[in-house]
Amino acid sequence: MHGLAYAKVNLTLEITGKRPDGYHELISVMQTISLADDLSFEPAPVLSLECDVPELANEDNLVLKAARLLGQTGRFVLRKRMPFAAGLGGGSSDAALALRLIDEACHLHLPPERIVEAGAKLGSDVPFFLYGGTALVGGRGERVMPLPDLQARWLVLLNPGVPLSTAAVYGALDPAEYVASPRSQYWTGQDVPPLVNTLEAAALRLEPRIAAARARLVEAGLPAVLLSGSGPTMFGLASDHAEAERVAKATGGIAARFVGRTDALALDYSASA
Ligand code: C5P
Repeated sequence: MHGLAYAKVNLTLEITGKRPDGYHELISVMQTISLADDLSFEPAPVLSLECDVPELANEDNLVLKAARLLGQTGRFVLRKRMPFAAGLGGGSSDAALALRLIDEACHLHLPPERIVEAGAKLGSDVPFFLYGGTALVGGRGERVMPLPDLQARWLVLLNPGVPLSTAAVYGALDPAEYVASPRSQYWTGQDVPPLVNTLEAAALRLEPRIAAARARLVEAGLPAVLLSGSGPTMFGLASDHAEAERVAKATGGIAARFVGRTDALALDYSASA
């Protein structure tokens, strides 16, 4: 079985407080985009992972953890095509796809809620990727309300190339920054919501160099720029494909477009694309 694990951006990410379990309560409009890793799986007596980025082919890889969680063994081949540790959800998307590939290839027929529960154990962003497309996400990430696909839009991603840990960014949040009345919950889902990310100020305090990526996208002509997730990638919305390509070229960024739910969830029976 084979599939593509698409990246995401958070069009909104509003943090409303800290939970007793140490995680933060959030509400976020998430969207799958056209950067994707390529993952294949075939059942086999021994669990293994082959990856073209050797440093990711280790026991901590969420793809292997997904298989262990479902008690299955087999051979994964992962081709990394999207930047990792970027705020684009790459590891979480790989993990969500691994759960779906195993369920299909091993004929487990798990109920969707069981797969979402397994996903939430692997990481807060994993449940979203089990739905893909456009979704309103709540809780610590485990509550996903799928929404109709937004009209396709182009965007440009710019990775400042500085390390930024998710836990450190959440840790740098000042409780005064928690959002009392999040706007995401009132979003009607018809057009792209006004971009907002509670984590952006904390990320900029931790790593001021990411401000340069924001400035480059704005200077190149994209006024609506936001940090994706906990960063460090910044993205800017473009008005069309041509503008996205032009800005990507001028900034050294990557042009991408929104990917709807049907495409985001497609699987096929070939070994790889
Ligand atoms: O769930 P995941 O392993 O992706 O989360 C990484 C870290 O990000 C957590 O250890 C936590 O510090 C922080 N986090 C959080 N609240 C969330 C999601 C993540 O505090 N809703």
